Amino acid sequence: MASGQDIRADKNRLWASIMEMGRIGATPAGGVGRIALTALDKQARDLFVSWCKNAGCSVRIDAMGNIFARRQGSDPGVAPVMTGSHLDTQPLGGKFDGIYGVLAGLEAVRAMNDAGVDTRAPIDVVVWTDEEGVRFPGMLASGVFSGVYAVEDALARTDSDGISMGEALEAIGYAGEQAPHAHRPSAFFEAHIEQGPILEAEGRTVGVVMGAQGQRCFHVTVTGEEGHAGTLPMDVRRDALLGAARMVDAVNAIAFEHEPHPVITVGSLNVRPNSPNTIPGQTQFSIDSRHPDNGVLETVEKHMREACAAIADKSKLEIHFERVSQRTSVSFDSGCINSIREAAARLSVSHRDMYSGAGHDACNLALVAPTGMIFVPCERGISHNEMENAKAEDLADGCSVLIQVLMERAG
Ligand code: GLV
Ligand code: MN
Ligand code: MN
Repeated sequence: MASGQDIRADKNRLWASIMEMGRIGATPAGGVGRIALTALDKQARDLFVSWCKNAGCSVRIDAMGNIFARRQGSDPGVAPVMTGSHLDTQPLGGKFDGIYGVLAGLEAVRAMNDAGVDTRAPIDVVVWTDEEGVRFPGMLASGVFSGVYAVEDALARTDSDGISMGEALEAIGYAGEQAPHAHRPSAFFEAHIEQGPILEAEGRTVGVVMGAQGQRCFHVTVTGEEGHAGTLPMDVRRDALLGAARMVDAVNAIAFEHEPHPVITVGSLNVRPNSPNTIPGQTQFSIDSRHPDNGVLETVEKHMREACAAIADKSKLEIHFERVSQRTSVSFDSGCINSIREAAARLSVSHRDMYSGAGHDACNLALVAPTGMIFVPCERGISHNEMENAKAEDLADGCSVLIQVLMERAG
């Protein structure tokens, strides 16, 4: 039997799995569009499940469609050590965001199998449903697992076509039976690409993640009145898109009132009826605001609400400004952080401590279990982009660090 330190990720096998998964929903420009709970998401899940079964894992699905693939331990009564991430992507996303963390978990299982290693605790490789929140915002599935949301509330959320999350899960055959909390882990580790430029710029291989900034998401509906583009004089119009455009500019300016700046993004806009010669009667847009300081997030929300209400008032529009999710900033567990740091040092993998600008399922898991994250570099820090890329060597080194910490925790 190999000793823990000898077990390394198989670089080529990990890369081949990521590339094969990337064919499901592949876009012509080399990225992936695989939105949660679509037929493509089902294909990706089915492939993952078949790989896990071939690696000897048993597979369970919970009520939120989270998939738990278990490599059994010698003491099945002990809580599992968990690792994983997500298989869904942005509409024009990449092959690595989330997918790396899931397949690094699978690679860890495969490498332990090859080495004939037994652990005392089971190891669960998890796919969290809909991390990206394109369709159902708020990292609901890991949120339910961690007690942030009630399962009934999350399943009742609807997408822009009025389809509920519960119906969408049924439609792809991933509405599981198991209660969402049946599987409390003794620790959770998530491997992920950095999605920023720091590791690459410094020539380091692993980021030991200390924590992640907080986030609040909003859905704003602006209502005016539809009218004929050729006949209605400019001064009597109640143009919902024009009002929304002024609001987009105002919320952007609010980011610059604070130092360091929060990041505020309006990334989605729906115009009704979306016709070139009808004055828009209704417009909906999203706001995503993030900062490490929860007090700043609170102030930013207040200022955005005030600014948008003032614009609506001046433009004779109605406004509904709804917060759809919030996550406070999190600090990861010092024990998990130390384990990752020490594992990287043992394997002579260059590393540094860092914070995450992005949200991750690990932020939810940190509420219920000791949690840590392992970042690896990605090309030019580009993510949420079809051009997202990473090096096979870095992905394998991050996975080897993951194998070390999983084995340490699983005993
Ligand atoms: C996840 O992709 C996020 O928005 O941080
Ligand atoms: Mn991700
Ligand atoms: Mn993402």
